[in-house]
Amino acid sequence: MPVTILLPRAMTNYVHPTERPGRLHVLIVDEDPAVRSACCEIAASRGFAPHAVDNGEAARNLLRGNSVDILLLDLKSPAGAGLGLLEEVKMLHPDMAVIVMTAFATVSSAVEAMRTGASDYLTKPFALDELAAVLERAADRKNVDLASRQLRDKLRTEQGLGNIIGRSSEMEKLYRILSKVAQTSHAVLILGESGTGKELVARSIHAHGPNSAKAFLPVDCGSLVPTLVESELFGYVKGAFTGANRSKDGLLASAEGGTVFLDEIGELPLDLQAKLLRALQEKEIRPVGATHRVPINVRILAATNRDLATMVEQGRFRKDLYYRLNVVSLRIPPLRDRREDIPLLAAHFLERMKKNGGQPRMLSDAALRTMMEYPWPGNVRELENSLERACALSSGSILHSGDFPTQLQDFHIHSYRTVPAAVEIEPRREVGSAVTPLAELERQAILDTLRRLNGDKLTAARLLGIGKTTLYRKLKEYGLGEPAAGL
Ligand SMILES: Nc1ncnc2c1ncn2[C@@H]1O[C@H](COP(=O)(O)OP(=O)(O)OP(=O)(O)O)[C@@H](O)[C@H]1O
Ligand SMILES: [Mg+2]
Repeated sequence: MPVTILLPRAMTNYVHPTERPGRLHVLIVDEDPAVRSACCEIAASRGFAPHAVDNGEAARNLLRGNSVDILLLDLKSPAGAGLGLLEEVKMLHPDMAVIVMTAFATVSSAVEAMRTGASDYLTKPFALDELAAVLERAADRKNVDLASRQLRDKLRTEQGLGNIIGRSSEMEKLYRILSKVAQTSHAVLILGESGTGKELVARSIHAHGPNSAKAFLPVDCGSLVPTLVESELFGYVKGAFTGANRSKDGLLASAEGGTVFLDEIGELPLDLQAKLLRALQEKEIRPVGATHRVPINVRILAATNRDLATMVEQGRFRKDLYYRLNVVSLRIPPLRDRREDIPLLAAHFLERMKKNGGQPRMLSDAALRTMMEYPWPGNVRELENSLERACALSSGSILHSGDFPTQLQDFHIHSYRTVPAAVEIEPRREVGSAVTPLAELERQAILDTLRRLNGDKLTAARLLGIGKTTLYRKLKEYGLGEPAAGL
């Protein structure tokens, strides 16, 4: 079937997609010429570059050679094969926005289409305004996606994203959402255990957002007494309470387009939660002791290590405030769920200490292995502190397990003793023989030394007078596995 490209008269000076990088290209697939021409006209009037075809084959041909940003697809045409085309397009061009058009009677197929990856749908017959709105929504989403990809590319480093370290798939997922929300002014709720980097992420969202030139104002809702949190957030007027000798602006009012970071939001008392909700809804506040209201213009980022959803169920956190703050939520995974980031983080912190005038340091294999196995309940902060402590205690250039805090050492001894059952197994001896084979003596010497040195292989090899490689080979023979990769 021939390719039918219908362009309204106004589009006769139409330029091919590849020559017009700035405009978004819309491909309309519909058997009805009237629909095609109406869609083209509306798309063109809103600044899109429209293309139209009446069948699936023509659509495939056009998609093969050109980059199309938005596909407007009638699910019934081509000849009822719309859903198949949608599946194909989502597979070959996952970034393309697909809007499906359906007759009222086939709304259920629109639902199925959304499940297959369509981003929006129009029920026929539709008003031209509706079409324009759907196209503009798709364009907005495209622009956010593009800006977010550009931001990610700009910040991408070998170690992570900007100053956030980590290349695990969990962190990559986080970066995708982070670079998207940074483009907007939405409220973001940052969730994660203590020390996972919630404040670091909040600062990064602010630093790459539209209000980055304005202030980032953190408030610790957990460490301040409630009345202080209130006056910190809302401000107060002179005489509002004992000691209020002059008026003071609250952070919500003085942010002026900047970001207020509500840290430990789960600790905010219920009455303050109500006040905060009102402030966010009405975009104005009343300072403590004041009768007047002050308008506010602020982006809210909030963080907590609490399970806010459960707190909502238990009535300890307001549901309406939870929904207001949780427009987008970002969950930072605990370090034990992304152990592959540990060597990167360790290298990053050692490098930073060196830059700050410290001595260059490396981790011994045993120390690194301990770090990889330890569950890090205090997450990245605990890892950072452990390295700082090890550097302060050690005078050499290699950090050994013994230089680390006792909880790591204890964990190491414990796991070291429990892992290789073979260590405890007595070798088979001749009955009545009191002679221990040389190999067994050697094995005992090696394992005892390692135990005494908390598994530090480098030092053990030195003390035993054998090379590091020999030690590794022997450990492997004893079933103690591969040595950890050095940093
Ligand atoms: N991915 C990371 N890359 C580099 N540094 C990190 C990372 N995550 C955390 N840190 C560092 O770890 C320390 C703790 O991070 P941060 O204060 O952001 O955590 P938090 O989640 O707010 O902790 P808490 O719940 O205890 O307040 C900081 O020094 C921060 O710079
Ligand atoms: Mg914090």
